[in-house]
Amino acid sequence: MEFYDNESMFELGSKMKVRVEMIGGDDPHGGGFRGGKYPVVIMDDVYKDPDRIYDFVNTLPVPLSNCNYEKYYGNRITIDNFIGNENFLNTLAMLLLHKLEMTDMISYDTATNNNQFCVNIIHNDKEHGVTGTQRKESYIPHSDPSLITSILYLNKDDELETNGTGIYRHIKSDLVGYPQDDLQQDWITDCEKKGGAPIDNSTMRMKKEVLENAPVELKYDECIFANNDEWELLWESTGKYNQMVSYMGGMFHSALFDIKELIDIKRLSQVIFWNFVPAEMPPMGINRPVISPRNVMGETLPQVN
Ligand SMILES: [Fe+2]
Repeated sequence: MEFYDNESMFELGSKMKVRVEMIGGDDPHGGGFRGGKYPVVIMDDVYKDPDRIYDFVNTLPVPLSNCNYEKYYGNRITIDNFIGNENFLNTLAMLLLHKLEMTDMISYDTATNNNQFCVNIIHNDKEHGVTGTQRKESYIPHSDPSLITSILYLNKDDELETNGTGIYRHIKSDLVGYPQDDLQQDWITDCEKKGGAPIDNSTMRMKKEVLENAPVELKYDECIFANNDEWELLWESTGKYNQMVSYMGGMFHSALFDIKELIDIKRLSQVIFWNFVPAEMPPMGINRPVISPRNVMGETLPQVN
C-alpha cells in the first residue's frame, strides 16, 4: 500500500502573492477602449514545497490512450476527487471568488466536494498520440463549463521556452467567452456593465448567435500566440513555476505551448475546475442541486488549459 501525505504536500506557501489583472482591449466594432473589464487572478509561489508536487506529478505513469479525449494533444491524467487539502481548497476558493467578483453569485459553503482536481500532461508522442486533425482542437480557444478554472504551472522555469495560457476575444462576435450557464453569462454581462458599455440580454443573445454561426475551422498549425483575423489575444501568462492563473471558466482560453519542445519533456500542470452552488439555490441539504464539474462531453469546444 502506498500513501501520500496530502495535508503537507499541498500546503500553501507563506510567501504566496496574489494579484489581479484586469484584461480587455479595444472594441473591434469601434465601441472604444474597453480595457480592464475582466479580472484574471495571478498567484505566485502558491505551494510551500513545489518541488514535491513536481516530483509527484512528473513521475505519474502516463496513460497510452485517452478515453473520449482523443481531441487533446498528448495524454492527460485526470484524478477525480484528488483533494489537495481542505485548507488549500477553501483558502483558494474564498480568494478567487472575492478577486473575481463572484461572491454575490454563489452560496459558499465548502469547496472541497465539488471540484475537479486534475493533473495535465501534454507531450508529443508519435507512437501513442492522436491524429493531426484531432490534435488541432487542443489549442483552439474554448470555454470550460466550470465557474472558475485555475491552472498551476509545474514545469520549472528553465524547462520550456514556451509555456502558459492565452485568453482571447472572438472578434466577429465580440465575445470574450462562450457562457455555458446563467452564472457565466451573468458574470460576463456584469463585467461589461461596470465599464460603462452596457450590455443587455438581447445583445448577449445576438453575440452568441454570431459565435454559434461562425465556423471554428481547424486551420491552425500551432497555438495562437498573437492576434489574427478570428481571435484577439487579450492576455497571456508565461507558465511560471508554482504560479496559478485563474479566470472565469467560460472565457475563451487555450494552452500555450510549442509542440516541438514537448518530445522529450512533458508540459506539467495542475488544473482545478471550480464549481459552486448558485446563490438562489437552497443551502446545504440532502437534495441540494450541484453543478456537475464533469460535464466534459457536453462541452461545445475542447478543453485544455
Ligand atoms: Fe479549458
